Amino acid sequence: MSKNIVERYQELISLISHHDARYHGDDNPEISDGDYDALRQELEQIEQNHPEIKSADSPSDKVGAASSKGFRKVNHAVPMLSLSNVFNEEELDDFLIRVRKFLGLSEADDLEVLAEPKIDGLSCSLRYENKHLIQAATRGDGQVGEDITANVRTISDVPQKLPADAPDILEVRGEIYMTRSDFVKLNQMQEEVGKPLFANPRNAAAGSVRQLNSKITETRSLHFFGYALGEVSEKFANTQSEVRQKLKQWGFYIPMSDEKNTFSTSEDILKLYNSIAVQRPDLEYEIDGVVYKINRIDYQERLGFVSRSPRWATAHKFPAERAVTIINEIDIQVGRTGILTPVARLEPITVGGVVVSNATLHNADEIERKDVRVGDHVVIQRAGDVIPQVVEVVLNKRKSNSQVFVFPDKCPICESDVMQEEGEVARRCTGGLICPAQAVERLKHFVSKGAFDIDGMGTKVIEAFYEEGLIKNPVDIFTLHERDQSSLTPLRMREGWGDLSVKNLFQSIEDKRKISFDRFLYALGIRQVGQATAKRLAANYINIKMLMNAMNEAQNENGEAYAELLSIEDIGPGVSNDLISFFREYKNILFINDLLCEVNVEDYIFNASNNSPVSGKVVVFTGALLTMSRAEAKAKAESLGAKVTGSVSAKTDYLIAGEDAGSKLKRAQEFGVHILTEQEWREMTSQ
Ligand code: IVH
Repeated sequence: MSKNIVERYQELISLISHHDARYHGDDNPEISDGDYDALRQELEQIEQNHPEIKSADSPSDKVGAASSKGFRKVNHAVPMLSLSNVFNEEELDDFLIRVRKFLGLSEADDLEVLAEPKIDGLSCSLRYENKHLIQAATRGDGQVGEDITANVRTISDVPQKLPADAPDILEVRGEIYMTRSDFVKLNQMQEEVGKPLFANPRNAAAGSVRQLNSKITETRSLHFFGYALGEVSEKFANTQSEVRQKLKQWGFYIPMSDEKNTFSTSEDILKLYNSIAVQRPDLEYEIDGVVYKINRIDYQERLGFVSRSPRWATAHKFPAERAVTIINEIDIQVGRTGILTPVARLEPITVGGVVVSNATLHNADEIERKDVRVGDHVVIQRAGDVIPQVVEVVLNKRKSNSQVFVFPDKCPICESDVMQEEGEVARRCTGGLICPAQAVERLKHFVSKGAFDIDGMGTKVIEAFYEEGLIKNPVDIFTLHERDQSSLTPLRMREGWGDLSVKNLFQSIEDKRKISFDRFLYALGIRQVGQATAKRLAANYINIKMLMNAMNEAQNENGEAYAELLSIEDIGPGVSNDLISFFREYKNILFINDLLCEVNVEDYIFNASNNSPVSGKVVVFTGALLTMSRAEAKAKAESLGAKVTGSVSAKTDYLIAGEDAGSKLKRAQEFGVHILTEQEWREMTSQ
């Protein structure tokens, strides 16, 4: 045996375990499913030909990845397996012949096959005991998965209870997935708050299910479709079709349940495969193939399993929507927060029915890893709504004079330095608002729906006004009217504008001079501060002055202000850091002050309908409380509509002083804040 085979074998083991970890552990695969399958096939081929070199920890004996930390481990009563693949008619026929042979069927014997879509999500096992959902687990390595019960309970497609005719123990296996439209929405929100985008609906679903906080999972629209059984206490069906029917009756979603989907010849099976392939682009969810299952359960039981997949089922995968084209240029785009994103400008090509002329290259590391160069032939891949991606370079078509792509160290728009923060893949332009790209993106953000929401100021208008020097920064929007009145070329005389449109524009700007604190905060465009975070900050600090003071004090990471910032829900060290850095910059303070000369920011208003005596009051707890924990006191106060803050200011309504109250009590006395004992507070809030 050549040394090369042993080396290649070991290389394959480490490659596969690397990609398993990317796929299962990080939900962030680096290679396509097709490429991954090819690695596994190559590995299995070597093991078949050279069983003597098979390693004890070969990935061919494992399914997926070991459990990641953070979730409790769950032993699967019946292992959760994977599926073998067929890619064409010939391989489908081989599958059917193997099954027939295994079962000893003659040509005259009927062998019914059920076909159903292979939805691209993540597999999950639901365990019901006495008709109640008691556990939900991921596949993990097939034997041991992760307990994701709390998160799965937030999925409305998953019945919490089953009807009386369901067996006492029932495990339903199925796929958790996200629809294409929910995936697009989620990514829009991720973008808004400066979080990384998910590459596809499957990663988005996996990322959502693996949240340690089920409140976050609840905000993600997830679905579940049942396709198989695990442990069952009593048999209730003789065929897979009957299993589907029963699951449907018990409240599970079963795709294409009204279509005929059982067949006896490969010709008919392929007809359904082709019809599903045609429907694929219009389906609400992503599918990556069709699964074929031997319909009779007694046959399934007899057929059993081989290593990691059942003998009674196989997946017919769709060919990936790919094409080869040339990279004409690599452009660098600069976003609102200064992130530089490389984009491949392609020789236009049709991939999966859509003309593609751009593909994302993600970041500098990605270009380096794939060694993508201008002039290269590259394989392009499109999956659903996902931005087309460059899969790999076709190296044998590379020109001898091709040059390694050098990622710029100066911003291509404003020439400021580009830097990369520790622990971040993104490189950013340091130019801030002197960078026109950032300035225009920031203006667009400032007038957008969730921010100042100025009618008549769309992308085109912003870009034109910026270019002409009419509006360079957000403050200019509010001085435009005055400047226009004394201009030699007023707006109404410009092309595309008339008396009425100009009047309407100025009116909509006037209308927005009054703005709520949370919208104002979101409009500032601080990194990682999306609408939800802005609302939380506004509710906590009530007005911009209090926020600015607090951010100034929070520069001291050992102080109370910093601790208070971190105590706000969903604000961790990352967001805190971005907030504090923003407010540390002198130019940002000047900008806010200039803006405050033009607009009127309303204090955050609490829900007025709450009529408890402490509703809308700002309270501070200090000292040791005797009858409740600080967390419980805070939760109770908030449930009654009070705002709990960590430090005393002139805005504080009540200070609840526990035992050994110190500096806060003194400060409250200085401000003349109403001081209550714990007992007085309890009386006031007992309803
Ligand atoms: S049946 C015993 N049916 O595809 C194995 N799986 O690549 C039972 N999948 O692990 C699997 N749609 O997560 C089955 N209609 C379907 C499916 C399906 C998606 C997933 C499942 C499985 C993976 C194998």
